[in-house]
Amino acid sequence: DLYNFRRIGPDTKVYGVIGQPVSHSKSPVVHNQAFKSVDFNGVYVHLLVDDVASFLKAYSSSDFVGFSCGIPHKEAALTCCDEVDPLAKSIGAVNTILRRKSDGKLLGYNTDCIGSISAIEDGLRSSSRCTSASPLAGKTVVVIGAGGAGKAVAYGAKVKGAKVVIANRTYERALEVAEAIGGRAVSLADLENFHPEDGMVLANTTSVGMQPNVDETPISKHALEHYALVFDAVYTPRITRLLREAEECGAVTVSGSEMFVRQAYEQFEIFTGLPAPKELYWKIMSKY
Ligand code: ATR
Repeated sequence: DLYNFRRIGPDTKVYGVIGQPVSHSKSPVVHNQAFKSVDFNGVYVHLLVDDVASFLKAYSSSDFVGFSCGIPHKEAALTCCDEVDPLAKSIGAVNTILRRKSDGKLLGYNTDCIGSISAIEDGLRSSSRCTSASPLAGKTVVVIGAGGAGKAVAYGAKVKGAKVVIANRTYERALEVAEAIGGRAVSLADLENFHPEDGMVLANTTSVGMQPNVDETPISKHALEHYALVFDAVYTPRITRLLREAEECGAVTVSGSEMFVRQAYEQFEIFTGLPAPKELYWKIMSKY
């Protein structure tokens, strides 16, 4: 089911996920099955790309209609787009590119923000039986990572009224993001001794813990104790070491697969202009 070869022909629309690494991505699996389910003549492939700018330039007049941008290309991708939607511009990262049919221009979007924030909000709502429209308002959200995914979570949390702390291995990058959104920066090393207020949310947006490095974790277990909810953007494996240890510390955990599904069906709508078969996306990802 990875590729829908049955329908490939001159009219087939081609899409792909650009990343380095990229083979772990489940985007081809979900999008190809979704295309098939609504009888959309499209195919979606993995694209291992080192340099996103030269790749997009080389393929600017090809049959590719749209791209998902993965690690580590989300910030560079923004600079390659001819037009960037206001949300992606505010975040400073693009994870979805559509080539406009009429003039071939590349349009940049961000679906990571809505995908991650709604996954975290749903986790908070179901764990505390909270019915608030904005369960993040007033909460402290600690974001590990200052790349494209980190910026999307940090910006989204800020817009929802959270107090945002960015922790990053390279402190200067954390500082840049904190300054841009009006948050606070700490180094990843300092996060180990960060004195948390009870009820905080922790969001890992780095690739630490992703297959094949499943024994790695971005923060030690002792530092997890005061977090009410821990989210990991990594979704391969579904339950990372970070989430396992957070659960052992009593936190509610939200897997990156919850973000992945949501960002993917939003992407389907941008790619095709059709309503996404959301139930199908959930069903496919429940197998992984
Ligand atoms: P993405 O666009 O997917 O967020 P990215 O822009 O490459 O990818 O960002 C990766 C993030 O993960 C960065 O914050 C990076 O930290 P640095 O800014 O110090 O490079 C973080 N990261 C990657 N590998 C890491 C590791 N082994 N330990 C800690 N942080 C790591």
